[in-house]
Amino acid sequence: MPEFFEELLSSTSPPTYKFYNGAGWTKSQSGKEMEINSPVDGSLVGCVPVVTQEEIDGVIARAIQAQKAWNEVSLDKRATIMHLAADWLRHHEEYLTRLLIMEIGKTVDEAKGEVKRTADLIDYYTDEARSLRGEEIDSDAFPGFEKGKIAIVNRVPWGVVLAIAPFNYPINLSASKIAPALLMGNACVLKPPTHGSIAGLHLTQAFVKAGVPEGVISCVTGGGSEIGEYLTQHAGINMVAFTGSSETGAKLCTTSGMMPLLFECGGNNPVIVLEDADLVLTAAQIIKGGFSYAGQRCTGVKYVLSYEHILDKLIPMVLELVRTDVKMGDPRSSETKLVGPIITESAAKTIEQRVKDAVEAGATLVIGGKRMGTYIEPTLLSHARPEMDVVRTETFGPVVSFISIQSVEEALRIVNSSMYGLQASIFTKDEGTGIKLGQKINVGTVQVNFSPQRGPDHFPFLGVKKSGLGVQGVRYSLEAMSRVKSIVLNKYE
Ligand code: G3P
Repeated sequence: MPEFFEELLSSTSPPTYKFYNGAGWTKSQSGKEMEINSPVDGSLVGCVPVVTQEEIDGVIARAIQAQKAWNEVSLDKRATIMHLAADWLRHHEEYLTRLLIMEIGKTVDEAKGEVKRTADLIDYYTDEARSLRGEEIDSDAFPGFEKGKIAIVNRVPWGVVLAIAPFNYPINLSASKIAPALLMGNACVLKPPTHGSIAGLHLTQAFVKAGVPEGVISCVTGGGSEIGEYLTQHAGINMVAFTGSSETGAKLCTTSGMMPLLFECGGNNPVIVLEDADLVLTAAQIIKGGFSYAGQRCTGVKYVLSYEHILDKLIPMVLELVRTDVKMGDPRSSETKLVGPIITESAAKTIEQRVKDAVEAGATLVIGGKRMGTYIEPTLLSHARPEMDVVRTETFGPVVSFISIQSVEEALRIVNSSMYGLQASIFTKDEGTGIKLGQKINVGTVQVNFSPQRGPDHFPFLGVKKSGLGVQGVRYSLEAMSRVKSIVLNKYE
């Protein structure tokens, strides 16, 4: 472990971590710990503390106090700190990559990509924050008003932002909340995911070492069921930014009460393949979209809708690519392509069961379907139907289902009646048709001739229905992490 991160450890064997209470790295009074076992081989990656409610109270009290002073720090100084945090991540890319591989089972390229993308994202947020502007509005445009009132409109922070990150991008999707929160003058309390806690603690250290003042950032660890509700209900929290499942998102909405929420939840992203589609491109995008990080991306390709005669050509092409371009295995091995382990064995069992249920209900297993511990073979299902659980609910694993349709209207009905609405893809050589069809699909983003994806990260990223609340993406997140404040000057004579 680089010296930079040594403060995080309370013991080396097994590696046992402290949490960051805003003022320093400390053990929890609870004496309780969570063991983080690697999805790769079951080995113990480390133990993290389960913090107590009193410790959370202390963290939030410190954050409330510190935020006031942080809001007075110039944006230029905050920006310098953010750029330094990004550089620290770059500096420790190799170590953090190894950590991500073992803690969450990403392949080498995916883990490295997450660290690099996070550093670039923090830099981009910082540059964008410098260019945010307020405005001045005169009164005389509205009927019945003369000149004489001027609204000076600016953005101010919410206060203390609670950031809850998911296991699939524990560094990136923590930083995508921390950076805009801090740049806009908020304090931020990070609750990392269980798998990803250790990565979240390391990320916190990058911000601390970059110079984020005491209390402005903290990182509390513990299971969602143990501390999640307490955090979201806490009177000292002024905003919740969450990425995770739709089920947890729905629960958080009821517990958090009346406060701003920025949620990105489940996706169940369809691909519609029109008759004129470039099938070589389509097949390659289905592979990339369906199998990267073993399908554990909320933007993953989950099901493909097309005419029977197109599927007759497309499925063999996708199958061929599964054989050549996808290889399930240990993510540390250079032989492995896209499909490493599922985050836990119980999650893998759920995926396996969904595939079995679909086959029992009439779907055809084209390839895959077998589970070995946490590993699920890359799986293709044909003759799937929208009511099957494997299609109806988000299956967070390497499974792509093919559904035959009679018309584009039928595809639209299936997609628009889904409870999710994150992204959808359309494949067609006619971009005009892609745009027109895209306008009829009720999701946050429609990709024409590409698989669903969040990036580039300055594009808006949002889900409708059970897929989310609010809009993320660099400028959108900066705006979401702040609010408008008006001072109205009235003519004084
Ligand atoms: O929460 C979004 C994440 O699951 C997917 O991000 O960049 O893989 O499309 P990305």
